[in-house]
Amino acid sequence: MQKEKKLMVSAINNGTVIDHIPAKDLFKVISILSLDKIKNTITFGTNLESTKLGKKAVIKISDIFFEDSAINKIALIAPEAQLNIIKNYEVVEKKTVSVPEKIVGIVKCVNPKCITNHEQIVTKFKVLQSNHQIALKCEYCEKITDKEHIKIIL
Ligand code: CTP
Ligand code: ZN
Repeated sequence: MQKEKKLMVSAINNGTVIDHIPAKDLFKVISILSLDKIKNTITFGTNLESTKLGKKAVIKISDIFFEDSAINKIALIAPEAQLNIIKNYEVVEKKTVSVPEKIVGIVKCVNPKCITNHEQIVTKFKVLQSNHQIALKCEYCEKITDKEHIKIIL
């Protein structure tokens, strides 16, 4: 294998490797998973060459194994992300992320007039998917927030 003669980010002993994150979405993934609030060792690399994505990012979180419901939230912005579960330096499982049907919280409604932008109400969206594109339909105002306009609120 020509592509990776050596790892750009050191291997980990135990934990979760999130690979194939589009480089531009790295910091959104970090905030969706609240990685800035945990004490575990986290290493990451970004702007790494990827044949599939152009530039990719990878995040390695030691000693954390996420619930599927937590990890699926990143499918909103990084549907091609790949999870690798590492135990004792071995990849014991590979998972892809799947887009949830509903998103509660996390994302701001694009409509400035939406009630969720004026009152303390948790946002709620139905996830629409077509041609691999994701959009969110607000359950309060019905306006559609497309992928490019997804703003994370945490
Ligand atoms: N990895 C790690 N620590 C380990 C084992 C693997 O950080 N102890 C990382 C690798 O760096 C890679 C990912 O976990 O980013 C998946 O490892 P592996 O399946 O060996 O790599 P690839 O075959 O390149 O996987 P893919 O085809 O999914 O990119
Ligand atoms: Zn709305």
